[in-house]
Amino acid sequence: MKHLISAKQLQKAEILHYIDEAREMEGALQRREGRGLERKIMAALFFEPSTRTRLSFETAMLRLGGQVISTESAREFSSAVKGETLEDTIRVVAGYVDVIVLRHHEIGAAARAASVSTVPVLSAGDGAGEHPTQALLDLYTIAREVGRLDDLTVALVGDLLYGRTVHSLVYLLSQFPGIRLLCTAPSSTPLPEDVREFALAHGVSVEFEGNLQHAAAQADVIYQTRIQKERFASLADYEAVKGHYVIDEEVLKRMQKRAIIMHPLPRAGEIVPAIDSDPRAAYFRQSHYGVPMRMAIVRDCLIGE
Ligand code: NCD
Repeated sequence: MKHLISAKQLQKAEILHYIDEAREMEGALQRREGRGLERKIMAALFFEPSTRTRLSFETAMLRLGGQVISTESAREFSSAVKGETLEDTIRVVAGYVDVIVLRHHEIGAAARAASVSTVPVLSAGDGAGEHPTQALLDLYTIAREVGRLDDLTVALVGDLLYGRTVHSLVYLLSQFPGIRLLCTAPSSTPLPEDVREFALAHGVSVEFEGNLQHAAAQADVIYQTRIQKERFASLADYEAVKGHYVIDEEVLKRMQKRAIIMHPLPRAGEIVPAIDSDPRAAYFRQSHYGVPMRMAIVRDCLIGE
């Protein structure tokens, strides 16, 4: 059974396979094809808010001819309110469907779900832990837009501590040669030590670059993130780091011609809308790549190849 719980479980060959498949799915979508999962059902169990992840997973499943059952706000509206454990919920739902997409507020929740599930579990984010399918679509974005996955300078900007998409992205990039990471983060939200260690152990260069303009001048990819307000101990702690690094026209001016700006979205002020029309602003295209990549991921766990 093929669970997708952590980006650490993926080796280079698998990552490249997903990217090839996503490219094929993108072609299939353009040709208005892309079936194959008729009679399959996906459950989207979301215990935390989501727009892109849930809707792109559901779109992917529907485009593949499958069907979807979904519970958003499961923290408030599922039997979790009555005290049911995640494990029990998964045991039950696994008897209804062929694949479970799970977003949960606790680190390690996806692994716990996978340990009791009789169908594949795809993590759609576990607290401040990881977000592996986002990282796959992020790599797909880089492959599509920059044209390579090695010899890249990637500026990671913003909340590197709680930003789960960053953690999974670093794990995937670590599989490729010549990666240089510039960490442009407030001192209270650095890249977690274990994530940094993983990258270093895989030969990645990890540097701190506190000046966003300097980072922008060197980067092939700027990966901006939202300060994860909901994960801070107090509002005051959040307010202290919010608005520290904002991508605006001045930052854009410093960027290379062929570099791109990415963001998993939603943004909350850290990229000014005035730069959206610049061709280097890749974040909305990035959000759209979620559909072909999630088609590739769902197909892979349900029918292989
Ligand atoms: C991210 C998440 O939920 O981790 N959003 C997403 O899935 N595209 C990023 C965020 O919420 O800031």
